[in-house]
Amino acid sequence: MRVITTVAEMRQARQEMAGPPWRIGLVPTMGALHEGHISLVRYACADDDTVVVSIFVNPTQFGPSEDFAHYPRDADRDLTLLRDLGTDVVFMPPVEEVYPQGFDTHVEVEKLTQRLEGASRPGHLRGVSTVVTKLFNIVQPHRAYFGQKDAQQLAVIRRLTRDLDLPVEVVGLPTVREPDGLAMSSRNAYLSPEERKAASVLYRSLEAAQELWRSGVRDAPLIRRRMGEVLAAEPLAHVDYVSVADAETLEELETVERPALVSLAARIGKTRLIDNVTLSP
Ligand code: PAJ
Repeated sequence: MRVITTVAEMRQARQEMAGPPWRIGLVPTMGALHEGHISLVRYACADDDTVVVSIFVNPTQFGPSEDFAHYPRDADRDLTLLRDLGTDVVFMPPVEEVYPQGFDTHVEVEKLTQRLEGASRPGHLRGVSTVVTKLFNIVQPHRAYFGQKDAQQLAVIRRLTRDLDLPVEVVGLPTVREPDGLAMSSRNAYLSPEERKAASVLYRSLEAAQELWRSGVRDAPLIRRRMGEVLAAEPLAHVDYVSVADAETLEELETVERPALVSLAARIGKTRLIDNVTLSP
């Protein structure tokens, strides 16, 4: 496994990779790897000839009062895991390499970023769009893998890939969960044992939405209300938003007649967690 820290060396390594039909897969991450990330890497290793995993805690997607400085980092452990999985290249540049002095260009997906995470975390999705576009340009993969866990991020990346004619196939993969339903996340490490228990309320709220839908309920405000009730029953949970939206446009629905993204964000103590499921008729 080759570990690369500069853009120039990454470009050089890319040139040395064989041409078509040789397939290059990219899995962008911020490290502190867990089973969610690992499922993406496994998928890439099964599907592509050369697998590049990037590890970069991207400062531009964190707000000024967010956890950039404290975000979990454990490069040694990540590299051991990736080596065992059969990763070919790890690209882990320092911040100055990605954002040199004078950096002044951003990628902004406009409408899709106005709601949900975009509304709660101004600038977050612009930071994601910018860094993912850069990673696509630096690594030039045929395919790139992302988790449905970050559903709006995935939708935004699909949109920008289409809008900017980037020659990358974006693959979305299912959310990996703990046995009690909590979606795996690097931020779960922040939770105290008591908070960790309480955090399963996010998934229980999504399950309540799924149950209503399975029993024939199509009234979106009713589904949102039921989700809010489940969350309100957990004193450690503070809701940021609860949404039943069109899965493509992310506009809030009145009636669930087309595929819907049911998503929520809540704080458990100081830790902000997100999760979602899709309802498709
Ligand atoms: P990070 O949070 O490290 O996640 C990297 C990838 O793993 C993302 O595509 C995310 O959706 C996926 N992922 C996280 N938890 C998952 C889970 N429980 N099941 C399945 N997939 C999961 O998302 C980012 O980093 C960054 O925004 C990034 C895209 C790397 C840009 O900086």
